[in-house]
Amino acid sequence: MRILVTGGAGFIGANFLNLLVPRHPEHHFVNLDALTYAANLGSLEAVANRPNYTFERVDLCDFSALRAVFAQHKPDVVVHFAAESHVDRSITGPRAFLRTNVEGTFNLLEACRELWPPGQGLLHHVSTDEVFGSLGATGLFHEETRYDPSSPYSASKASSDHLVRAWHRTFGLPVRVSNCSNNYGPLQFPEKLIPLLILNLLERKPLPVYGQGLNVRDWLYVEDHCEAIWVIINAGQNGRTYNVGGRSEQRNIDVVKKLCLLIAEESGAPEAELVGLVRHVPDRPGHDLRYAIDSSRIEAELGWKPRESFESGLRKTVRWYLANRAWIDSVRTGEYRRWIELNYGSR
Ligand code: NAD
Ligand code: TYD
Repeated sequence: MRILVTGGAGFIGANFLNLLVPRHPEHHFVNLDALTYAANLGSLEAVANRPNYTFERVDLCDFSALRAVFAQHKPDVVVHFAAESHVDRSITGPRAFLRTNVEGTFNLLEACRELWPPGQGLLHHVSTDEVFGSLGATGLFHEETRYDPSSPYSASKASSDHLVRAWHRTFGLPVRVSNCSNNYGPLQFPEKLIPLLILNLLERKPLPVYGQGLNVRDWLYVEDHCEAIWVIINAGQNGRTYNVGGRSEQRNIDVVKKLCLLIAEESGAPEAELVGLVRHVPDRPGHDLRYAIDSSRIEAELGWKPRESFESGLRKTVRWYLANRAWIDSVRTGEYRRWIELNYGSR
């Protein structure tokens, strides 16, 4: 198969390619990425020179460039990771989210429709549980849960999900959608909670906790997510949605405490000094209280389940960041420093 991966230089896309390019020399993988601030080609060093891997720098919003890549590579399968992905950035600057997540997805759907005869090809759209809005203290998101997004990010992802399903119903485009919970693991840009905390802990900087830290997220180890997508591509049904979760609900404050303990164990730093870095800062507007996923469909129909517990996945993640200081330095660009100043300077 010829598999085109959008956003393959970002966190989840790079983990997907690092996992699958070496494992499947019989498939050719094309990584299409605009290389925004969130991208890092250094994350792909292990696959960059493989014969079954090609990189194309293209912005999804440049339709003629996108069509040219489709005409050249003629993908059989498209895996759509590319997006603006950070909720806080969508609050300070929503325009880029509408542009990439809505217009970019629209362009991708049109490029697929142009290339593939009716009923042929496959677009796998990677989405988020945030489209469902916030849960109270109990309950789980199911595939049929009503969409109720709270942030510009989740509203733009909800829009893209609707576009993908509409292209299936109206034009017969073969699509599959997965909505997953919060990912964590190697190669994640340190604007998201877990890598931000790890880097701040290593440098003994304050640990910003929004509000009281009582918001709950369901954490999914990134390789478990990538395996779920691969299973859906190979064994899922067209037009079907699959929820993917980690069975690992955690309050934010407990994530912070677990990371303090792990870094203390792994680096020899005194735990009390690390816990003393916690700072409660003003809450995110529209902050969803709780996300939790019911993954029973993908477990029952496709036999997938997460391999990592939160404890085992978090330890792997901490060890990866400790062992990859050069990667950390490479993402410490001017943009990263500017974001930290803009987002946390006034909190
Ligand atoms: P990321 O921000 O780390 O990477 C996004 C990638 O997309 C970057 O490499 C960037 O250069 C590329 N990109 C952005 N705009 C583009 C454009 N216009 N054209 C081409 N490429 C563009 O994101 P991630 O965390 O790897 O998330 C990947 C996907 O998974 C996203 O669709 C996101 O909504 C979804 N998702 C992420 C999480 C999570 O916890 N990270 C959870 C659920 C769903
Ligand atoms: P984040 O990693 O931004 O993912 P999402 O908003 O998509 O769930 O945030 C995870 C949780 O951590 C969320 O409840 C917000 C909270 N948070 C903090 O408390 N402090 C921070 O500095 C960040 C980035 C997030």
